[in-house]
Amino acid sequence: SHTAKFGSPFQSLGQRHRSKTSASSHNPSCSPMGLSLLILLPLSVAFNLDVENPAVYTGPNGSYFGYSVDFYMTDSSVSIIVGAPKANTSQPNIREGGSVFYCPWSLSQSQCSSIEFDIQGKSRPVRPVDVEFKSHQWFGATVRVHEDSVLACAPLYSWRTMEDKPHADTTGSCFLSVKNFTKFVEYAPCRTEFRGRKGQGYCQGGFSADFTREGKVVLGGPGSYFWQGQVITAVKQEIVKAYYPGFFLTSVEGQIQTKQKKEITFDDTYMGYSVAVGEFSGDDDEGDVLSFDQVSILNGSLDMLKTFTGEQVTMCSVFKFMVRITSRMMDLLVGAPMFMLRDSDGRLEELGRVYVYMQNGPLDLTPQLPHLTGTQTFGRFGSSITPLGDLNQDGYNDVAISCPFGGENKQGLVLIYNGHAGGLREKPSQVIAGQWASATPSALPASFGYALRGGKDLDNNGYPDLIVGAFGADTAVLYRSRPIVNTSATLTVYPTMINPEEKVCTISRGNETLVNLSFCLSANGKHLPNHLEFNVEVQLDRLKQPQKGAVRRALFLDTQLPALQRTLTVPNGARVCSDTKIFLRDEKDFRDKLSPIFVALNFSLNPQAAADRYDLRPILNYQTAELIEQKAQILLDCGEDNICVPDLKLSVHGDRKEVYMGDDNSLTLTFNAKNDGGGAYEAELYVVLPPEADYSGIARNNESLTQLTCSYEMENQTRYLSCDLGNPMKSGTSLWAGLRFTVPRLKDTHRFVQFDLQIRSKNENNSQSEVVPYKLEVVVQSDVILQGVSRPDKVFFPPPNWKLTKNVMVEQDVGPSVQHTYELVNNGPSRISHTLLQLKCPMKLQSNRFIYPLEVTTEGPVNCTTHNIVNPLNLKVRCCGLTNPYKSFILKCLASYKVEKMPYAILPKVTPSGAKKMVTPVVWNKPDSTYAVPLWIIILAILAGLLLLALLIYVLYKLGFFKRTPYGTAMEKAQLKPQAASEA
Ligand SMILES: *[C@@H]1O[C@H](CO)[C@@H](O)[C@H](O)[C@H]1NC(C)=O
Ligand SMILES: *[C@@H]1O[C@H](CO)[C@@H](O)[C@H](O)[C@H]1NC(C)=O
Repeated sequence: SHTAKFGSPFQSLGQRHRSKTSASSHNPSCSPMGLSLLILLPLSVAFNLDVENPAVYTGPNGSYFGYSVDFYMTDSSVSIIVGAPKANTSQPNIREGGSVFYCPWSLSQSQCSSIEFDIQGKSRPVRPVDVEFKSHQWFGATVRVHEDSVLACAPLYSWRTMEDKPHADTTGSCFLSVKNFTKFVEYAPCRTEFRGRKGQGYCQGGFSADFTREGKVVLGGPGSYFWQGQVITAVKQEIVKAYYPGFFLTSVEGQIQTKQKKEITFDDTYMGYSVAVGEFSGDDDEGDVLSFDQVSILNGSLDMLKTFTGEQVTMCSVFKFMVRITSRMMDLLVGAPMFMLRDSDGRLEELGRVYVYMQNGPLDLTPQLPHLTGTQTFGRFGSSITPLGDLNQDGYNDVAISCPFGGENKQGLVLIYNGHAGGLREKPSQVIAGQWASATPSALPASFGYALRGGKDLDNNGYPDLIVGAFGADTAVLYRSRPIVNTSATLTVYPTMINPEEKVCTISRGNETLVNLSFCLSANGKHLPNHLEFNVEVQLDRLKQPQKGAVRRALFLDTQLPALQRTLTVPNGARVCSDTKIFLRDEKDFRDKLSPIFVALNFSLNPQAAADRYDLRPILNYQTAELIEQKAQILLDCGEDNICVPDLKLSVHGDRKEVYMGDDNSLTLTFNAKNDGGGAYEAELYVVLPPEADYSGIARNNESLTQLTCSYEMENQTRYLSCDLGNPMKSGTSLWAGLRFTVPRLKDTHRFVQFDLQIRSKNENNSQSEVVPYKLEVVVQSDVILQGVSRPDKVFFPPPNWKLTKNVMVEQDVGPSVQHTYELVNNGPSRISHTLLQLKCPMKLQSNRFIYPLEVTTEGPVNCTTHNIVNPLNLKVRCCGLTNPYKSFILKCLASYKVEKMPYAILPKVTPSGAKKMVTPVVWNKPDSTYAVPLWIIILAILAGLLLLALLIYVLYKLGFFKRTPYGTAMEKAQLKPQAASEA
């Protein structure tokens, strides 16, 4: 347990106190260690402790300097008192008797000196043997200050009388110094004749202690009466009076103490484990007293007024408490540093908890929910609690709660919680992290915050300060409070509706739309310097998420910059204003007309400003908004409310429905974009392209189409096109435009390719049209052509010098040769993997052999088979031939093809096939020599013909045929003329 680990005075609380390494639910015999409770008034904000320049005091190594701390402030002295319960002293023959240090405070660091409360060593001169045991007595484990008196206790002090030798009783003992260390008296109220366990022999008086407001000492002695414990009170002056050096047993006038209870159930309740003083009963008399493991409220006569226990007594979540008197009703804080909670896996986690009880009426304590629970496992949240007074001067008191094993490297945390009218705020306003490494890291953490003391204004700057002890590092730290500046800032923008049409001619720039801007800052607070310097920054139209190419739409007129920085000096309690002008940029320079233009004012205290006369820098109240925003809107053409609700419609047409595998597939999409509602700002056509497609440009072939500006971009894996449709796309707009694409990267795994089109705007309401898909079917198609040519195109038969022979030896013997060439062409677009070409030719004519196939030659990846044997006679030939033609006829061959396979998963809609007839006319060719006519017969025939003509002319002459008029009739002329004209 933490007792054993620290070797604190508590470990000898008795044999019934068992040592444990961790709290567990099945071990009900838990250490009552770390009982903490605190009472405070209304609470408040505390964020203003100056953690940058604390005053750090250190004590002797290993002395546990900082185990207890308190303020010591008199007219002449501003200092702190620090207990070091394991310090060695000048007392003769005493080891680690413990000491108390006096540490004066000033702006320049000063040293601590030990206060000589007790210079006596082992024994007193009146006795022949040792009766007192001051080694390891933990003097200084408890230290309390009242005005110029200091009470310091040694709870493990023991003594014995001659009779009970060798046994000694751990009664505990305290020393009281009064009148600024000019007089020291011992006060050991448990050192009585009522010894042993049943009496006050194990009292450990001074285990806890406090002063009432009037200066009455309240001592806790948790070990009396079989650890029932007890609380003893006595007036300071009476203690001083009763003290007589050398006497062990004294009686103090007016001392009262709680009595032993008869019931055995009160054993092991450790009353007095912790005491604190506060006003509970509501009357104004003596402070009431509290104590122990359950929380009891006692009155000034030590009568029990109220008792309550924690929710997890069986889980060893123990209380530690302190009480603090303040003017009005006190509230109560109870720390349970070993409080456990189940984590999400159901395991118990020791987090620590602080219960806050608000006192609504006398002794009417209501818990404030939720309780404050620690966040650091084994951090011991709630080990110590101290009222801070009104740290931030807001009228509510504040509290510090420690978590001494929390934080980085377990260096300890102190959390400041502020009060408000309803209690304590749930979240700390400041968390101070310990910065001191443990002196003996293996044995003990630094335990920063194990001791806390607050509520006194040491430097007299009007704000109370805080002392934090870290006994594991032999350190005590003083944190002073910074004065708090309450500010209020205003920011005015006028007009808030900017009409870009309203331009004013300014000297610096020309015609501008101007907006007035003014801001004011006021500052006030308690105990502040006369003037406060602020850094003020005003930002215009700053983008929360900076976008590419975005510009600030408004600038300051005089600097033409979007930001303004100024240092403003504000007298305490006053208000300072500043006016300036901003202008709206030209509409051409930005697109966003819809979103408001934010003007943000940000201010802070100038960190370069001089510190105040206490060497502290004021701090802004953390509840002050340091950022103020106003907005101005650009006037839109959307009616009175300036809210535009567009009604966007889109229809799309394409020039094709199908795309072909293997083709580039150029496509033109024509769309109609309409806005039937209010203006659509930053309207654009947004086209998501399928991965197969590319954008090639705007369609410009038709004058009725609008020429858009489009940009082609890629976002993640999506490629899209956005085309500006206007800013705004005005109400009533209807435009046609066309976009050209290609779709070259088709895959046969997709049957369709889809474009998605949409009109988008930046308007708040109804900003988009429906998404219009445009779907294209992926088709496999090939255009196959079969071509053929015959060489020669006509065959004359028989060829010259040809004779029909029986013994065909060479090609010429067969007949004239004809070459048929066929060509199969795939004009695409899709590819073909297998095609069959068939060729049929008549081999016989009137049962005679007619064609003699000589040879098949191929070009390209062609395989041929034939049904008729080519060149059966194995002629030495180059070409095919004809036989036995007796007259003209036509050689007709028929070639046909059929595509059998195309290399795609998609089947072609139409399988390409076709045929071609190849025709070669064969012309009968009679031999010249057989039918020749002799020349004389021809001459004779011409002469006979001429004679016959002469005879005919003569007969016509005789009949008068040549005497007709040379002009003919009018009718004949009319008929002739147009003919001449048409010929011309
Ligand atoms: C009070 O005691 C401190 C410490 O011993 C000393 O420095 C200071 O001068 C004393 N003040 C008076 C008024 O004696
Ligand atoms: C400002 O506006 C006025 C009136 O519209 C015009 O005559 C003048 O030329 C403008 N000046 C500039 C600098 O644009």
